[in-house]
Amino acid sequence: CGIVGYIGKRDVAPLLLEGLARLEYRGYDSAGMVITSPKGTGLKMVKAKGRVRDLEARVPKRFAGTTGIAHTRWATHGAPSDHNAHPHMDPGDKVAVVHNGIVDNASELRAKLEADGVVFASETDTEVLTHLIARSQAFSLEEKVREALKVVEGTYGIAVMHADFSDRIVVARNGSPVVLGVGEKEMFVASDVAALVAHTRQVVTLNDGEMATLKADDFRTYTTTGTRTTATPETVEWEAASYDMGGHDTYMHKEISEQADAVDRVLRGRIDDRFSTVHLGGLNLDARAARGIRRVKILGCGTSYHAGLIGAGLIESLARVPADSEPASEFRYRNPVVDPDTLYIAVSQSGETYDVLAAVQELKRKGARVLGVVNVVGSAIARETDGGVYVHAGPEVCVVSTKCFTNTVVAFALLALHLGRIRDLSVADGKRIIEGLRRLPAQISEILESEDEIRKLADEYADAKSMMFIGRVRGYPVALEASLKLKEISYIHAEAYPASELKHGPLALIEPALPTVAIVPDDELLEKNRAALEEIKARSGRILAVAHQEQERADHTILVPKNEDELDPILMGIPLQLFAYHTALALGRDIDKPRNLAKSVTVE
Ligand code: G6P
Repeated sequence: CGIVGYIGKRDVAPLLLEGLARLEYRGYDSAGMVITSPKGTGLKMVKAKGRVRDLEARVPKRFAGTTGIAHTRWATHGAPSDHNAHPHMDPGDKVAVVHNGIVDNASELRAKLEADGVVFASETDTEVLTHLIARSQAFSLEEKVREALKVVEGTYGIAVMHADFSDRIVVARNGSPVVLGVGEKEMFVASDVAALVAHTRQVVTLNDGEMATLKADDFRTYTTTGTRTTATPETVEWEAASYDMGGHDTYMHKEISEQADAVDRVLRGRIDDRFSTVHLGGLNLDARAARGIRRVKILGCGTSYHAGLIGAGLIESLARVPADSEPASEFRYRNPVVDPDTLYIAVSQSGETYDVLAAVQELKRKGARVLGVVNVVGSAIARETDGGVYVHAGPEVCVVSTKCFTNTVVAFALLALHLGRIRDLSVADGKRIIEGLRRLPAQISEILESEDEIRKLADEYADAKSMMFIGRVRGYPVALEASLKLKEISYIHAEAYPASELKHGPLALIEPALPTVAIVPDDELLEKNRAALEEIKARSGRILAVAHQEQERADHTILVPKNEDELDPILMGIPLQLFAYHTALALGRDIDKPRNLAKSVTVE
């Protein structure tokens, strides 16, 4: 979900709508806002099920104010609807709350409030907060919010307005991001810098357990127990223009096309030719500690988990340390054995995904060493980890990840090379990998040039009800990610299997109506992969191969340039991003905002 708020002198409704539009990728099933004017004319609210444009259509002609909070929602408790949209107000129209996160004890608190005669207007967990604040007898808004938060368990990023305190917005954070934007005699608040950078690049990121009071010309931060904290604004690097579509029809297309530059960025300034290794300034892991590592465990969700799978392969092959990747969401619930000689790595584009953050916190509590591979600088996971590698993909807006996936894998290649060269990777192999990394941007551009051909293939396969993706060893995570990409945006059912496992079950599904996408690199497993294609062909299955040379058994082959065996997975996934894109386009899907999803899931 997304939060945006403003207090200053400008007409607030258009500002909030613009901020919401920039945050829409975080949730888009309903939206709403509450505004007021300094004259204390009470709170005015408007909400709508659907997109920000649906809200915009509902904003009344006269809707003047200079203070407001707004929200775009990704439903957890309660279906998307007008009344479940945020903000939530109390029956006296005094208090308005927007909230990201989940109140875990909402039903218990709700029952208590209902027993006291409170009538609820929605099914949301957030409304509980509204009533608690409205019923507080405390004198200040800060104290009312603090009292309410005392009884609330769960995660939140909230912004609160009160009709009797129209000179301020009070915000609080626990597990869900809140960023203040400091302007000239105006203050912004948002759950994501994306909503702020058009107006100010001076930001303050709240810590968990911190609150803030925003007034037009001033702000102060303090803990939820009332102790003042110091907050010095930092300058964010990302520019407003990076959030624009730049002539493309969708963010996804824009972000796919940016990958050569993005890879160039993650490599820039990091390669050390003298020692055939890399410098990773933020790693915070000296050579002695790096040598002491006996295992590497990578944790992430969704696409980042898949990037971690390729990362684990790279670390295992270049650094010869056993490595694996696991969904962070699973890891944290199985009471994992935390081992002092294991290096844990949290992977996240946003740096906010709650399941990943919670896994990091659990690991740190148990004394583990945790690094981050993160895109968003200063995000929660970047701050909670002991060090790490920034991915430098730039802002990614489309819900499904493309350029950030690619850059994350390249960041892992750098890390693997670094660990390898401290352990037993030879200078010659270090040099070979560095040369391979340097070839990537040009090879990515070459792949992107075959977009027309890929579009034609996508049109041809778009009628499939289901698709199989196969790959072996290095190719398997590529298959997993390509299948995820296809299902997320085209809604075609897809599943990924190791090619070697096909004969142990899924071969039963193969028939002309179920096409297979096969990852077939020119490596030591080429013949094995060809055998899998034979098995499929013998059952009349259609095959689309992604390969370094024409595959005789395939109906179609997408050719990609060859790099070093270890780095090939980085390139082989890229044509399949375009394949998913054009399939979804052929089916008329809303590519940047696939149904039921959100870019950052900051709840469990
Ligand atoms: C959500 C998104 C996915 C993303 C995952 C992890 O589920 O829909 O596209 O891969 O979160 O996000 P992160 O920001 O941690 O990489």
